[in-house]
Amino acid sequence: MSESKIGLDAIENASIDELRAVQLSRLKESVKHAYQNSKAYREKFDQHGVHPDDLQSLEDLAKFPFTGKSDLRDNYPFGFFAKPMEDIVRVHASSGTTGKPTVVGYTQNDIDTWANVVARSIYAAGGRKQDKVHISYGYGLFTGGLGAHYGAERLGCTVIPMSGGQTAKQVQLIRDFDPDLIMVTPSYMLNIADEIERQGIDPAKLALRCGIFGAEPWTRAMRDEIEQRMSFDAVDIYGLSEVMGPGVAQECIESKDGPVIWEDHFYPEIINPETGELVADGEEGELVFTSLTKEAMPIIRYRTRDLTRLLPPTSRSMRRMDKITGRSDDMLIIRGVNVFPTQFEEQLLSIDKLSPHYHITVDKKGNMDSIKLQVEATDVSNANNEQLAKELQHKIKTFIGVSCQVSLLEPKSLARSEGKAIRVTDNR
Ligand code: DLL
Repeated sequence: MSESKIGLDAIENASIDELRAVQLSRLKESVKHAYQNSKAYREKFDQHGVHPDDLQSLEDLAKFPFTGKSDLRDNYPFGFFAKPMEDIVRVHASSGTTGKPTVVGYTQNDIDTWANVVARSIYAAGGRKQDKVHISYGYGLFTGGLGAHYGAERLGCTVIPMSGGQTAKQVQLIRDFDPDLIMVTPSYMLNIADEIERQGIDPAKLALRCGIFGAEPWTRAMRDEIEQRMSFDAVDIYGLSEVMGPGVAQECIESKDGPVIWEDHFYPEIINPETGELVADGEEGELVFTSLTKEAMPIIRYRTRDLTRLLPPTSRSMRRMDKITGRSDDMLIIRGVNVFPTQFEEQLLSIDKLSPHYHITVDKKGNMDSIKLQVEATDVSNANNEQLAKELQHKIKTFIGVSCQVSLLEPKSLARSEGKAIRVTDNR
């Protein structure tokens, strides 16, 4: 693997013309491969009246139908595979809220591509081959652990494959092995930070220099909170199993201005989630991805449900995505107002005496939606502090536009996450 001046791979600095040319030739191949080798896609394209020959420009992609999670579920488990089972070397699955998980498959080339984009991501986060990487994403059917693992190994780092859970042990290994980087969900990082504190360790004295956080929405306010508390840099990694896993996009340490989409492998579009129409770069909407190089399971116009916008290139030649506001599935409609958990996170973190541990419960009282926000105070003396609760309530009303009941709890009273945090209980 040759190291270019900026970034790990030369393509990260390609000219726009060069990048678009690579994308178009790969897109043609990917659409053709899906049509020829995946029964599900052949049927879908035929029903929609489109053929791979209709794709002559990147814009022509808009003629093709979307793929949704339900398509994958309807073809459970392996119906979307475009390679014979003997060529599939790995499967992963994401647990759904409803019964069947979504299953994804990889050929050896896919595993290589994935390792390469994760290596590129770690490099963009400032990781180098001499670094030790502590991985606390869960290993198993979830793509987080193994995805991060193969990428860190590909870069030549020393991997500490800790997986999620066993928080006291996580801290022991961080203390004893001196990892330079940690890869973990931001919510589990907070949990680990609590344990670091409990063990009387000064985070500033740890070797850790950067955390690569993803798998769940987190705000800029949460970045500030983690950076201050841990005395290291925090950058954002994005991905989803249906498209590959972690490493679809990665924020660069030098700019910290949103994840760069590795557009030579994953072609992004933003659509209006209601109409399905494309929206221009810079406008908010639902992120849609088409894989450009996947073999086992090419994915065409996959609707991620993630809401964000595309931003112009900065540190690399490829476009960036803004922080995910939330998933359309996580959107709460409270008395007609659309709200996301991240909006509450932003407000509560703007108050010093409140911790980043929170939970939202939504109920229906008569015909009215009611919201209860539980937040831990940083100090036991501030639990049940009426004044502070009122301040937060007021901010939420002013900036989000909903009334809610706020309870300030004692530190450590809410359940802690060991992977993706569950922010909302909706009892309606
Ligand atoms: O969460 C893959 C991953 C693992 C990404 C580790 C980053 C780090 P899934 O379990 O399929 O895959 O969940 C994908 O998680 O559609 C988003 O809603 C959310 N998500 C992932 N990364 C981010 C992020 C992995 N950086 C779903 N910011 C996606 C916000 C994220 N949301």
